[in-house]
Amino acid sequence: TGPGLVDRFGRQATDLRISLTDKCNLRCTYCMPAGGLDWLPKDQVLGDDEIVRLVRIGVEHLGVRELRLTGGEPLVRAGLAGIIGAVRTNHPDLPVSLTTNGLGLDKKAGELKAAGLTRINVSMDSLHPETFAQLTRRPFLDRVLHGIDEAARAGLGPIKINAVLMRGINDHEAPALLDWAVGRGYELRFIEQMPLDADHGWTRQNMITAAEIRGLLEEDFVLAPDPRQRDGAPAERWQVRRRNSPSEVAGTVGIIASVTEPFCADCRRTRITAEGKVRSCLFSHEETDLRDLLRSGAGDEAVADLWRDAMWAKPRAHGMDHTGLGSPDFIQPDRSMSAIGG
Ligand code: GTP
Ligand code: 5AD
Ligand code: SF4
Repeated sequence: TGPGLVDRFGRQATDLRISLTDKCNLRCTYCMPAGGLDWLPKDQVLGDDEIVRLVRIGVEHLGVRELRLTGGEPLVRAGLAGIIGAVRTNHPDLPVSLTTNGLGLDKKAGELKAAGLTRINVSMDSLHPETFAQLTRRPFLDRVLHGIDEAARAGLGPIKINAVLMRGINDHEAPALLDWAVGRGYELRFIEQMPLDADHGWTRQNMITAAEIRGLLEEDFVLAPDPRQRDGAPAERWQVRRRNSPSEVAGTVGIIASVTEPFCADCRRTRITAEGKVRSCLFSHEETDLRDLLRSGAGDEAVADLWRDAMWAKPRAHGMDHTGLGSPDFIQPDRSMSAIGG
C-alpha cells in the first residue's frame, strides 16, 4: 500500500463519505428546488459492488478509518442493507454511519443495525408540523419522529440530530429543539446554512450565525465548552445546563459553523458522489471520475492512485468567510447539497 490521501497542505483524509443516491423524498428549501432535480440515470450511479470495492480500496490502500453513507436520501437506495452488510464483512471494525432525513427509518432501523450499521444522524429542523412542512415542502414530521424513536430502540446511537436554522421560519425554535433532544439523550447540532442550495437563495444576512445560535440558546440554557477533544469534527460541542437546574449537565449541543468559524484546516474528509466522482471538498469546482476506471477493469492500485491525485488538489479552504459572498472570490459550486452528499 502507498501513502494515504494527503493534500498539498499536509492534511490527510481518513473519513470517507459516499453518496448512495442523488434522489431524495423531501425538498428542503436550503437544498433542493420545489420540483426536485433531474435524477441521474441508473447506469450512471455506482452499483452496490462498486461501492463496496471503493470502500475496500479506501481502507486497504489509502488509510480510510471511518465511513459515512449519505445521499440525497440514502434510505431510498434498495441495496442499502446489503451494502452495509458487505462492508461489515470486509471490515469488522470500521465505524459505518448514516446521515438520513429519517423517512423510512421506522421500518428499516432494525435491519440496518443487524447488517452492521454503527450509528445514525437524522436531519430534523422543526417540531411543529406546519414549520416542518414549510421547510421540507412535505408533511412528514410524524414519520420522521417515529423513525428516530425506532432507531434509538434498535441501538443505532449515539443519535445526532441535525438542524439548519432559517431566519423567520424556525430560528425561534432553537431552545425548544434543544430541550426536546436533551430530554431524549440525542445530541442536537445546529448547522449554519451554507450556499449549497439549488436555487442559489443563500444570503449572508439571512444566515443564522453560530454566535446568534449561542445567543438564542442562552435564553434557556447555560453553555460551557465541552472538554472532549474536537478531533477534526465539524461540530464545536458545548455542555448544556438548564437555567432552572444549573448544577446538572443535561446534555451536549454542537454548532457547525462552516461559514463564520471554518474548520477547513482540520478537514479529514474525502467524498465520493453517487456517480463515482471524488470531490476533495464540499465546495470543489472539480471532480475526478473513478467510475470509468472501475468499469474498465483497472486494478485496485490504479484506482487508489487516481483517488490520491484527486485529493492532492484539495483546496486550502472554501473562502466564504473572508470575502463575504457575492464577491467574485467565492463561487458557489454547481451542484446542490443533495447532489454532493452533505
Ligand atoms: P459526525 O461524525 O456524526 O459528527 O458527523 P458529521 O457532523 O460530520 O456529519 P453529518 O453528515 O451529520 O453532517 C452535518 C453537517 O456538517 C452537514 O450540514 C454537512 O454538510 C456538514 N459537513 C460535513 N462535512 C463537512 C465538511 O467537510 N465541510 C463543511 N463545511 N461542512 C461539512
Ligand atoms: N447548509 C447547511 N447544511 C445543509 N444540509 C443540507 N443543505 C444544507 C445547507 N445548504 C444538511 C442537512 C443534513 C446534512 C447532510 O446537510 O440538513 O443534515
Ligand atoms: Fe474541508 Fe472543504 Fe469542508 Fe473546508 S469546506 S472543511 S476544505 S471539505
